[in-house]
This record gives sequence, structure tokens and C-alpha cells, in this order.
Amino acid sequence: MPRIIACPEDEAPISLGDLVASLNDSNFDPADEESFAAAGPLLRRLANNRDFLADIAVAELKDRCTSQSLENRYSSQVLMLHRASEKFYIRANFWPSERDSVFKTSGNSPFFYNVPHDHNFSFLTVGYLGSGYWSEYYEYERDKIAGLPGEKVDLKYIEKARLEQGKVMLYRAHRDVHNQLPADEMSVSINIMHATPCLPYLDQYRFDVRNCEIVSILNNSATEALLALAANQGGGNARDLVESVAAAHPSSRIRFSAVKELAAAEQQVDAGLERLERGMHAADSFVAAMSARELARMKAMRNWIER
Ligand SMILES: [Fe+2]
Repeated sequence: MPRIIACPEDEAPISLGDLVASLNDSNFDPADEESFAAAGPLLRRLANNRDFLADIAVAELKDRCTSQSLENRYSSQVLMLHRASEKFYIRANFWPSERDSVFKTSGNSPFFYNVPHDHNFSFLTVGYLGSGYWSEYYEYERDKIAGLPGEKVDLKYIEKARLEQGKVMLYRAHRDVHNQLPADEMSVSINIMHATPCLPYLDQYRFDVRNCEIVSILNNSATEALLALAANQGGGNARDLVESVAAAHPSSRIRFSAVKELAAAEQQVDAGLERLERGMHAADSFVAAMSARELARMKAMRNWIER
């Protein structure tokens, strides 16, 4: 489960600006687990500041949420607090209970409740308000799986716990899994998120924790849509771009997407099937297995495709 970071309880509060200044120090490296964990007590001291979040929320409302409109790509569950660094950003999250009207009207989905998942980024979190959302925590080892939907995973159940006010935890990318459950009362957490330009290409999984399987890859990127457009561009002038992505992109998911789009763009079904057969022999187990699945799918649909 996420690392619990022990922090002194009654250290002096700091402002959001103080925290940002400390994190902007070149010694802070969120890609390094120990460096990230060392920032835990600072986040706890921000949480000891009981005014700053309400002050920011009111200022945003007075400004018609201008900075949220510019910087917040999340739903209204999230208040973006700082997004000016390439290494990190800071956000507040609101976690309603089942009794809250926003939950009654919106249900589980907007809050990612009951969707067991890992994260493709590490983040430090502190309970800021309330008894905190619940989680059933699991761990797995990313380098022991290919990442295929339906693949069995050695998920180890750890415990059920909640993120109560003042508790600081470090969620580790590609390792900690949680099935998040509604808080018992409206709660707020504050996160320092590891920001990295390669995030769209790092896979995040949804798990079936009963059967210990990957259900699906949760994230996708604009690249997949662009590959489809490039593969089908009139005259075929962009196909070499798609070929280069299929051959050398660092993400297995993107490489397979390029193979799939090249296959789908072939005028003759047999040529598409040949591309997928070559994909089946890729050294990467994800590309090979997904190519095999796509090959089977295309063969099954051949009559419909050629109609
Ligand atoms: Fe999560």
C-alpha cells in the first residue's frame, strides 16, 4: 500500500507559496521515491494551515474561476492549486459521502469510487478535511505483467484504510492499487502530483480485484487518434510516420496502436492481416499479444469488412 509518511503533528503551518518555493528547489525530485517522501512533512504543514484552501476557493469564485478554467483539466471534484512547474502540480480533491447530494445526483463514476486502479504517476497526499475516503489497498509488480486486458496479476491485498485528516501517504506509480470507496463524510485531500511529459504514454490499469485480472488500460492519448488520421491520410504520405512510431515509440501501447492503424488502413484485408502477423512476432509481449487479438478480430469480421 502507499507509504505512510510519519510527520510531526503540530508543526507551524506554512502557506501554499512556502510549499511551492520548497518544491521548486532543484534538490526536489518527484521521480525519486525518497526525495518525494521527504516532502511529506512540508505537505503536512500546509494541511496545518486551516484557512488557505477556503481563501483560494473564494478568490476563484470572485474571479469567475478564471485560473481553474485555464489550468484545471479535471472535473469540479478538483481545485487546481498550483500548476507552473514541469516537475509537479498541486491540487485539492473533494470526496463526498453517499449521503451528500452531489453523490446522490452523480453516483460513483465522477469520483472514481469502486474502480480498482493503479496510477501511472506517483503522488503525495494528505487528508485535509474529514474522515477521508476509504480504500482497499493492494500491491502488484509492474515488471511481471505485459499489461494485457484479461491478464492475470498477482495482486496482494494489504488492508482497508482511510485518508483521515493529517495522514500523509505516498502512492507509488505502477505499484500501489486501490479500490476507492466513499468517505463517511465530505472529505478533502491535497496532492502533490509528479508531472512528467511522458505521462500519456505510461499505462494506468483498471483491475478486477476478485479475479486478480487487468480489466483495461484506463488512459489513452491524442496520439492514438492522430495515428488513425495519419495512417488514412489521402495519398499515404503520412504512413511512413506511422511506420516509424510502430517501430520505435517507447510505449508498447502506442506501438501497437500504430500497427493496428496501419493494418486497418490497408486497402486489401490480406495486407492488413499480414501486418498483424508481423506484429505477432514483435519482441515486446504486449505488441505481440495485442496483434494476435486484432488479427483474430479482423479474421472474424472479414466478411463484414469486405462488404
Ligand atoms: Fe487513485
